[in-house]
Amino acid sequence: MYEPHAHTLLIKLIEGLDLDRPFLARLAAHFHRVYGLMRQLYGRRPGLEGHLRALIAVMHARYQARPAHLRALDAAREADPAWLLSPQWVGMSLYVDRFAGDLDGLISKLPYLDELGVNLVHLMPLQVCPEGARDGGYAVSDFKSVEPRLGGLDALRRVAAALRKRGSLLMLDVVINHTSDEHAWAQAARAGEAPYTGYYYTYPDRDVPDQLEATMPEVFPETAPGSFTWDEAMSRWVMTVFHRYQWDLNYTQPRVLIEMLDVLLFWANEGADVLRLDAVAFLWKRLGTSGQSLPEAHDILRLLRACSQVVAPGVQLLAEAIVAPEDIVRYFGGGPEIDPECEIAYHATLMALLWDGIATRNAKVLNQALARLPQTPSGTTWVTYARCHDDIGLGFSDEDIARAGYDPAAHRRFLLDYYTGVYDGVARGALFGLNPRTGDARISGTLASLVGLGAAIARGDEAAITQAIDRVLLLHGVIFAFGGVPMLFYGDEIGALNDLGFQADPNEAHDSRWMHRPRINWSRVEWRALPGTVERRIFSGLRRLIQARKATPAFDDGGARRIIAVDNPHLLVFARSAPATGPQQAAWVVANFDTEPQLLDLTAIPALRGGPLVDLARGGALSRMGGRLLIPALGFYWLTRTTLSAGQHAFD
Ligand code: GLC
Repeated sequence: MYEPHAHTLLIKLIEGLDLDRPFLARLAAHFHRVYGLMRQLYGRRPGLEGHLRALIAVMHARYQARPAHLRALDAAREADPAWLLSPQWVGMSLYVDRFAGDLDGLISKLPYLDELGVNLVHLMPLQVCPEGARDGGYAVSDFKSVEPRLGGLDALRRVAAALRKRGSLLMLDVVINHTSDEHAWAQAARAGEAPYTGYYYTYPDRDVPDQLEATMPEVFPETAPGSFTWDEAMSRWVMTVFHRYQWDLNYTQPRVLIEMLDVLLFWANEGADVLRLDAVAFLWKRLGTSGQSLPEAHDILRLLRACSQVVAPGVQLLAEAIVAPEDIVRYFGGGPEIDPECEIAYHATLMALLWDGIATRNAKVLNQALARLPQTPSGTTWVTYARCHDDIGLGFSDEDIARAGYDPAAHRRFLLDYYTGVYDGVARGALFGLNPRTGDARISGTLASLVGLGAAIARGDEAAITQAIDRVLLLHGVIFAFGGVPMLFYGDEIGALNDLGFQADPNEAHDSRWMHRPRINWSRVEWRALPGTVERRIFSGLRRLIQARKATPAFDDGGARRIIAVDNPHLLVFARSAPATGPQQAAWVVANFDTEPQLLDLTAIPALRGGPLVDLARGGALSRMGGRLLIPALGFYWLTRTTLSAGQHAFD
């Protein structure tokens, strides 16, 4: 956009700089916005022009350092901005050490990911963290480093090259909300050095901390109550929303934003295709608020987005905002063409709702909540997932629970009882983050343990083992088809059970999330080749679904999605259609959360009435009873009306 004042300023700021054409063109296109956001965030302080100059210097230096092959990729993606919406992408999150020992070990395991069909790899944070105070990699003491025990930065470069060679994508974390208390900035702040004293929120007494804590919810109420920690060396209270060793960065200081932009671009230049921005809801704090999802947090993301697009337009930003359903979609901004923020966000709502469906054996809350979710702006997409490294929070609204006919408090208690095995012994999870005051809690446990695999194996109950495997496939059957990039969590593809080893480690024992961060036993993984094993049934089931997803144009997230209300409460039904620009296809996803077969009345879905239907997911036979389709217990279909190909069965 052209605006004379911004334009004049830009001309002044770039005077004397020798700028390449693509950089200059993009800077000119984004500058009006960058300037507007900087003015909004920092306009009340002196020195705005100097900060803008510093921002441009960072962008320019990182653009100059951007390797030629990444610039070529940028250009290709600029020509195809919806590239990540394609159904060909399937991701997996993994801890390098627990999955493969180190980064070179990971390279040797890439054929395994190829075999499964995973072509986007999210490496859990790799940066150096202090021993014993790591929060699983989210307490970074050196933002531009890779842990030596994992192989260091050179080994990461080998991983990036190996992924690139096979056409796969790399996703890395940028922990933008906080640093470790051992980060050089924190050390300098402790020593009273400017400007670092201003990089964090610190207070001499409890006055402001008490006021802030009155309205800010606790993230780790059990293990790190409150949001402030007394620092002896500084004789001040430091804001630590997460653990006491994770110091919140103070984004009211423009220098902090500029430093973190540099970190973000550093990882873009190391070959990340997607950057996962951690804990973005917390980027701005204000007295009298929850300190989450404030407008300024969105402005910071908009600014980071605009600046990273100038330097590395091929890189996509993923918002990790685990907040209320209606708040998550705000992290997309208005979408790429109107008011861009992040291109991708975690669909934490869908994830939590799926677990509600598994526990209740029906889709009542799922249907209520999904039908009421705001549309996402076109050009943006979700990460859909069933499980990740964090706890499962029951992050859907009481209103949706009530609309589904349950009492919200009793329902939430039921879910906690269910997943900790108190209700019927099927699930084997543990509580996480129990807030003794409110009774709120979240849930830990591997996917397989939560769907009952561990308990079923312990009892030698074959029918229950099959049910558990069916639940694993059902959850993935929904996240592969919903729209967005599905993200598996490592170990789930072979049904890894809870790993209770963490209880013996004093650094982990207090954090039950470690039970679902398994160390992969590769001799166990080999069992995927043995007919009849649980590992084979899950792995090959997922592999087939991944292949089917990739071959289904209707699952492109540039297309449409519609939740379809049906009269059977056990079923989740939604329609997908391919974008107008590609091969035309529509698909209907029908998922049965009950442990009994259920009927779908096809007359309620005119498009499915009559004509041959096939299941794109597994191609098996469909059985019909009159005008109704039988959905097996814990089964699902990806239905489409199409001409039949070999191996597919039709009815009608
Ligand atoms: C994010 C991470 C989580 C971590 C927290 C603090 O939510 O996913 O694992 O504890 O941020 O960095």
